[in-house]
Amino acid sequence: MKTPKKFVIRGGRTLHGEVEISGAKNAVVAILPATLLSDEPCIIENVPEISDVEISLRILRELGAEVTYMGPHTYRIDTRSVQSSTVPYESARRMRASYYFMGALLGRFGHCRVSMPGGCPLGDRPIDQHTKAFKKLGAKIRLEQGMVDITTTENGLQGTQIFFDCVTVGATMNTILAAVKADGMTIIENAAKEPHIVDLASFLNSMGADIMGAGTDTIKIRGTKYLRGTSYAVIPDQIEAGTYMVAAAATRGNVLVKNVIPKHLESIISVMEKIGVKIEQFDDAVRVSADGPLVKTSIKTRPHPGFPTDMQPQISALLCLAEGTSMIKEGVSEQRFQYVDELRRMGADIQVDGKVAVIEGTGHLTGAPVKACDLRAGAALMIAGLAASGVTTIEDIYHIERGYADMEGKLRALGACIEKKTFPQDPVHHEHAQITRQDAV
Ligand code: EPZ
Repeated sequence: MKTPKKFVIRGGRTLHGEVEISGAKNAVVAILPATLLSDEPCIIENVPEISDVEISLRILRELGAEVTYMGPHTYRIDTRSVQSSTVPYESARRMRASYYFMGALLGRFGHCRVSMPGGCPLGDRPIDQHTKAFKKLGAKIRLEQGMVDITTTENGLQGTQIFFDCVTVGATMNTILAAVKADGMTIIENAAKEPHIVDLASFLNSMGADIMGAGTDTIKIRGTKYLRGTSYAVIPDQIEAGTYMVAAAATRGNVLVKNVIPKHLESIISVMEKIGVKIEQFDDAVRVSADGPLVKTSIKTRPHPGFPTDMQPQISALLCLAEGTSMIKEGVSEQRFQYVDELRRMGADIQVDGKVAVIEGTGHLTGAPVKACDLRAGAALMIAGLAASGVTTIEDIYHIERGYADMEGKLRALGACIEKKTFPQDPVHHEHAQITRQDAV
């Protein structure tokens, strides 16, 4: 068991300078399994150094793939020698996105055995739409000892029409992975439209797949027997970009966020401008500054192109700093306000009723020992700690490291006073008290 690590942040400093955004987590966790569908080696570039990628690469190796580090953010993946269609439980249970190996292995072998995705602090996260799609494609599904066993008949997967009962990123991606080598045409209706879905389709099309309409609510996939190798760069992470944009605004800084696709940030930019943040757009960068008052705002999260649910905790932290009453309605996840208790420890005044949070902006926050309960909650606590007066210690930062490459280094380069510390079990309050005393001096 690794010694737990924590972030220690001395808040109150404005962020200045430039930050480079890494490859998109929610694209790469689907693109890496998709290499199983290639009949030749692939080179994947702009791969973010995050723990979800480490797990995905480990699963590929455990399946028998040859994974070679080719240099910064670049891997060569040759899956021709893969024989196994079973994803080891120990690896799969650590990452919800391991369910993408279901579609990829089903598309490659006509069979897969993958653990049921783990629970998650975002409330109920079923995969009924994933299994609905696999059954429509001709597969049979059995659940035993927490493992999902999916097998096709001797006819293999047959193209079909699938209508999702709800807009779901995961099921849209998984259906594309399973259908890309099926016989005939598959049409997905009510598909999710996130940029990472377009990225997966672009990656597969660069290998010779025939996928049309990704990014719209109707996606057509004509099954292709042979997929050649390719070299492909993962798109920049829109949520990482949004997170640093909010951090710049929360600290009243001035930051150039580089290596972004502004088109993917439209809803984030629109909301932040409503809050009074100044944003200049360039071809592959945005400059964020906020020297005026932050304005109370009401927001609802929606599937793309709406305001992303993965930005909801971060924007909540910002609205704690605005004067007046703001409201956030969570329109996608079942429960996504668990982080509010931690923000309250920092002086936030937030009332939650089901999927609605009402934020009484007090204009300031104070440092405290807090705990990350999921990836984006951890990001929100980082933002709050950067803006707060005094010292904030954040426990369970493994959540943050799942989806943010070198957040500590990137923030320090922007002028933040942040350290990653290893604490033996639990004297954090003692440590926090010591630092606070120093800070008080
Ligand atoms: C993906 O999760 C992302 N994860 C999540 O990002 C993101 O919050 C979510 O999409 C929404 O954008 C990855 O891409 C790895 P969904 P996913 O299927 O695929 C319901 C982060 O912070 N639903 O779009 O699990 C479900 O309950 C993570 O990077 C069903 O009912 O999300 C949820 O309420 C957190 N049945 C809603 O749809 C299903 O079969 C959206 O789920 C599938 C989903």
